[in-house]
Amino acid sequence: MIVSVVNKKGGVGKTPFAFSIAKDLGCFLQSNDNSIIERIYPEKAKILPTPKKIDNCVYDFGGFVEKGVLDIIKESNKIIIPCTSNYNSLLRTLETLNEIGNDNRICILVTDYRDEKEKNQICETLESNFTDLNLFFFKFSKIIENSMSSGASFTELYNENNLSRLSYTNFFNEYQRLLDFIRKDK
Ligand SMILES: Nc1ncnc2c1ncn2[C@@H]1O[C@H](COP(=O)(O)OP(=O)(O)O)[C@@H](O)[C@H]1O
Ligand SMILES: [Mg+2]
Repeated sequence: MIVSVVNKKGGVGKTPFAFSIAKDLGCFLQSNDNSIIERIYPEKAKILPTPKKIDNCVYDFGGFVEKGVLDIIKESNKIIIPCTSNYNSLLRTLETLNEIGNDNRICILVTDYRDEKEKNQICETLESNFTDLNLFFFKFSKIIENSMSSGASFTELYNENNLSRLSYTNFFNEYQRLLDFIRKDK
């Protein structure tokens, strides 16, 4: 199974989502963007300017200019595009959908919003340009930062104790729905 997490806009959460998905599915992780993944996911994570196509791998792609990146995206079983309310992030998301074409392998993570109004604004922008989008919703959560600083996946953080299960309930339920989508007809 090959999964690509893409958005040319930085700071939308590609690396935390890619890392957590890779760890929870026991996959390798490759990125063409600098981050701490090689330290928090030793043996399995590699940062390479030119990614190598291998099986059972989650790719964290910051840009598609490098040779081979678009090829891997096109051959992916699932393509995950995190999108925040940031204007550039929305623009890049629409650009990416136009570039690779919207199909049922693609899903958008509507993420990092603070309230329903902000969430609805992101959805309206996306849905006025594309119909039949697979959308997942991740309201702002400390789990993103905690995952990167601790090297624990979202599942590991959720299962840490009763308090974490309480604080991360909504995020984790949606994350499980995302993992199900990724595992489906791979
Ligand atoms: N649901 C969320 N809760 C908190 N932060 C989020 C969420 N979704 C995305 N983020 C963003 O993820 C960022 C961290 O990821 P980062 O590694 O910077 O992203 P990228 O790999 O896309 O450059 C944070 O700065 C935060 O703004
Ligand atoms: Mg990154």
